[in-house]
Amino acid sequence: MSLTGKIAVITGSSKGIGFAMAKEFAENNDAIVIVCSRKQEQAARALAQIRGKAFAAELDVTDGLSIKKFMQKILSDHKRINILINNSGYPFDKDIWYKKFHEGTDEELDRIMDVDLKGSVRLSRAVIPVMLQNNNIITGNENENENRGGVIINISSTPAIAGYTEGSPYTIAKAANIALTKCIAREYGSSNIRAYSLALGNIASLATYGPMTEEDRHQAAQEPSMKRWGKPEEVAKVAACIASNNFSFATGNTIVIDGDTVLL
Ligand SMILES: NC(=O)c1ccc[n+]([C@@H]2O[C@H](COP(=O)([O-])OP(=O)(O)OC[C@H]3O[C@@H](n4cnc5c(N)ncnc54)[C@H](OP(=O)(O)O)[C@@H]3O)[C@@H](O)[C@H]2O)c1
Repeated sequence: MSLTGKIAVITGSSKGIGFAMAKEFAENNDAIVIVCSRKQEQAARALAQIRGKAFAAELDVTDGLSIKKFMQKILSDHKRINILINNSGYPFDKDIWYKKFHEGTDEELDRIMDVDLKGSVRLSRAVIPVMLQNNNIITGNENENENRGGVIINISSTPAIAGYTEGSPYTIAKAANIALTKCIAREYGSSNIRAYSLALGNIASLATYGPMTEEDRHQAAQEPSMKRWGKPEEVAKVAACIASNNFSFATGNTIVIDGDTVLL
C-alpha cells in the first residue's frame, strides 16, 4: 500500500480525526498532505507536529472566496490534487444537539448543513475538475495509471445509517454525505475517481470525548461489543487503506468504523 507522492487535501485537519489522518498519510504513507484550518496559525501549529511532507493552508468550507483562494494556492504550489477528505464538521453545540426534532429551527439546520454537507459538496465541486485533469497527465512512469483521477472520502457518522434519538440536523447532514459519495462514485467512476463514506461511531477526539463526564464516556463505550471508544488513529489507518490503489475496484461504499455497534 502506498500513497507516495500523492497530494492529499484533508479539510479540518488542525485537530481531532483530521489531524490523525494528516499524520498517518504523511508519516506512514509518504503522501504530501495539505493540513487545513479556518485559521492559518492553527494549521501551522498542527503542521509543526507532523513529520514527513506536509503544508499548512487556510480553508473555510462555508466560504466560496476562501475555497477559491485555497484552490489557487494549492494548484500554484503543487499543480494537482489526488485525494480529498471532506472531514470538516460543525462543532458540537449542546443547544442544538439536545433539542427534540420538532423544536429545531431552519437556521440551526442551515448552520450544520453549511459545514457538514455543503462544505463537502463545495470542495468536491472544486477538486473534481482537477482530478479529471489527472487523467491527461502523461509521465511515462510505470505507475502512471495509479495517479489517474483521484479519491474522495466523505466523513459521515453511524446515526446516518441507524438513526439516533438526538442531534437530528447532524444526522440529516451526515446521511446526505453518504448520498453525495454515491453520486460522485456513479458519475465519475468512468473517469477514475473513486468515492467513499466513512461512517464513524464513538471516536475519542477532544471534540467528543473531551467534554463528556466519566459516566457518559463509560456508557458510550458499552455500545459496541468491543466495549471501548475508537481512536482517531484507527480511523486514519482505514482512510489510508481506501485511498490507496488496493481499493481500485471498490467505490461508492460506506465503511462503518464503530467497533460493531451498527452492522450492515
Ligand atoms: N469524534 C467522533 O466521535 C465522530 C463521530 C462521527 C463522525 N465524526 C465526524 O468526524 C469529523 C471530525 O470530527 P472530530 O471529532 O475530529 O471533530 P473536531 O476535532 O471538532 O474537528 C472538526 C474539524 O472541522 C473543522 N471545521 C469546522 N468548521 C469548519 C469550516 N467552516 N471550514 C473548514 N473547517 C471547519 C475544524 O477546523 P478549524 O477549527 O481548525 O477550522 C476542525 O478541525 C467531523 O466531520 C465529525 O462530524 C466524528
